[in-house]
Formats: sequence, C-alpha cells, structure tokens
Amino acid sequence: MDKLTLSVIKADVGGWVGHSSSHPDILNLAKNCMDQAKSSGLIIDHCVLNCGDDLELIMTHKKGENNADIHGLAWDTFVSGTELAKKLKLYGAGQDILSDTFSGNVKGMGPGVAEMEFEERKSEPIIVFMADKTSPGAWNFATYKMFADPFNTAGLVIDPSMHDGFKFEVLDVIKQESIIFNIPEEIYDILVFIGARERYITRRVWRKSDNEIAAVASTQKLALIAGKYVGKDDPVLIVRAQSGFPAVGEILEGFSFPYLVAGWMRGSHQGPFMPVSFKDANPTRFDGPPRVIAAGFQICEGNFIGPRDMFDDPSFDFTRKTVGEVTDYMRRHGPFEPNRLPLKDMEYTTLPDVKKKLEGRFKKEK
Ligand code: F6R
Ligand code: MG
Ligand code: MG
Repeated sequence: MDKLTLSVIKADVGGWVGHSSSHPDILNLAKNCMDQAKSSGLIIDHCVLNCGDDLELIMTHKKGENNADIHGLAWDTFVSGTELAKKLKLYGAGQDILSDTFSGNVKGMGPGVAEMEFEERKSEPIIVFMADKTSPGAWNFATYKMFADPFNTAGLVIDPSMHDGFKFEVLDVIKQESIIFNIPEEIYDILVFIGARERYITRRVWRKSDNEIAAVASTQKLALIAGKYVGKDDPVLIVRAQSGFPAVGEILEGFSFPYLVAGWMRGSHQGPFMPVSFKDANPTRFDGPPRVIAAGFQICEGNFIGPRDMFDDPSFDFTRKTVGEVTDYMRRHGPFEPNRLPLKDMEYTTLPDVKKKLEGRFKKEK
C-alpha cells in the first residue's frame, strides 16, 4: 500500500482581538481553500482548526514530506488569509508570512511544519497537539514523559511491543545540527540537552524495534528565521497512538502536570502550559497563559474521522486549577525572573537601548 503523509502546517495570519484568537471568517476562508484542494485531488482530507491566533491546516495526501504542491497550498491559504485579515484590519495581519515569494517549501518562511509519512495501520489513532504563546521546546517535557518515562507510560514496562524503547532525534537550533538518542539507555545524556528547551528541541521519535515513526514536532523558531522578534512560534506536534505506541491516555497524561514553558506575554516570560478544550484556546490573561489543544482522529483510508476535542474532559480540571495558582504565583514576580525569561531568551529586549543611554555611568570595579 502507498504511504500516507500527514502534514500539519500553521501560521498566525492575524489575530482577533489583539493576539488572543482567530476570526471565524479566516477559518471559513481556509476551509474553502482546503475543500477546493480536496475536490481537485491534491489532498485526501483536511481539518482546519485554530489555537489562539494560529491557523492550523491539518492535511492528508500521498505526496510525501516537503512536497512543493502541498506547501504551496498551505502558503496560498495563508496569503489569502492575510489579505482577508488586512481587509478586516485584524491584528498583526500576515504576522508569520515573512516573505513575498514562495520557493517550494514553507520552512524558513514563517509558518510551522510537522509532517510524517507512514503506512496506515488496521486502525490508526493519532493526536495532533497545537499550542499558542510558546515555542517548540514546549514539547520536550511532554514527549519525554510519553516515550521515556515509565511513571507516565505504563506500556514502556508492561507492553512487550514498546519494551525496547524509542529513539529521539534532538535538534540544536543554534548550530543547526541534530543527534539521535537511544531511550532508555541514554536518558541521562538526553536530559542534559532537552532540559535546555530553548536550544535543544526534540523533533522526531521512532519506535526502536522497527523504526516506525511515532511523533514529529515543528521546530521552526521565528526569531532565528527573521533575526528579530516577529511573534511566538506556537508549535504543533503529531503523535501516533495505541498498538505498540503509547495509549491515547498515556499520551495525554504527558500534559497532566502544567510545567513551565517559555512564551506568554511578549514571548518573554515563563508560564504554566495549560491543556484546554478547543473553545478555551483563547489566551487572554497577560496574553496567556500558554495553551495547548489536542485534536484526536481515527484515520480511515486517509480520511479524518474526527476531530475529537481530547482535553475537553473534567479529568484535566485539576491541572487547569493548578495553572490558575501557578499563574498568580508567577505573575507576582512581575519583571523579575523566573516570570520574565533570562535576558538571552527574551524575544523583546530594550537592553541595548537602555545600556546605550546609561553608557559612561557604569564604573569599573577597582
Ligand atoms: C506573544 C504575543 C503577545 C504580544 C503582545 C504585544 O506571543 O503574541 O503577547 O507579544 O500582545 O504585541 P504587539 O507587540 O503586537 O503590540
Ligand atoms: Mg499574533
Ligand atoms: Mg499565536
């Protein structure tokens, strides 16, 4: 059987209101573009969602990863969305569209991309996670929990098909080089890197016994692409579930502790990562706290049977309540670390200007 490709391509083409959410007309426009592509046979199926101000295009097709037609379709959809966002004077229209010309692949042009190619199983449950007000390193903690921590994922201990463990590919976003770790043998080594989540990002996970792809994350860092702050990356993550992969509940359990991630107000703070239902994916308090939604699908002959809104479950209420407490606690630090990020990780910085203004007033220690 031909392999199926699942492509998730996202961009912020304009916010409603401010950076808090997406306007329904933009979502409708994107759905129309996707419907046309489906009728023409370019894609098999699609699902259009938003997480905060980010427009999420979830597509299936048979053209493989990094395909120019599929990336072109996403790009054209974002460009049309930007035109409409400008017409409605939505906020930050075209925020993630960093170039005027498309050159075959959206990578490096602003949008975030996660793609995987696989042979559809007898039954293919998958979860697409989408975040707002944070950066791609936000997935490091959750993917570690899902695929490396037996206290999170019982299957690592008691399912023979997972017992050998997984392989993690980690990208160094500064040096632009990657390394593959074998898990569980190298957990102490990998943690040295992925604990530094703004530099080392888990990009792919494979099942070790047969190299089957298990998870793929978007790793685009807008500030590194544009050379300056242009908005937060707001990454996506695809995870395959069940039958030799973590169960749906083991995957979602990775978000049960609301760990701190970078982002939030002005991309320059740390806040608790809040798993929410689709309808609550509209970050407002201090432009946050950072949010994650989970769209579950059964894939059937390339078609999406879904989405199911996976965090729409009271069993995550306690996590969300904890987020409220952590939000208050962190906010009371105001401009002090660790609510504010360390200087090197801040997306906005007035430091050079303030330093310049005060030049000559710093006296050398004798
Ligand atoms: C963070 C984010 C917002 C904005 C903030 C200021 O990712 O999108 O917190 O940084 O609302 O926005 P501007 O600079 O557009 O006024
Ligand atoms: Mg925005
Ligand atoms: Mg956003």
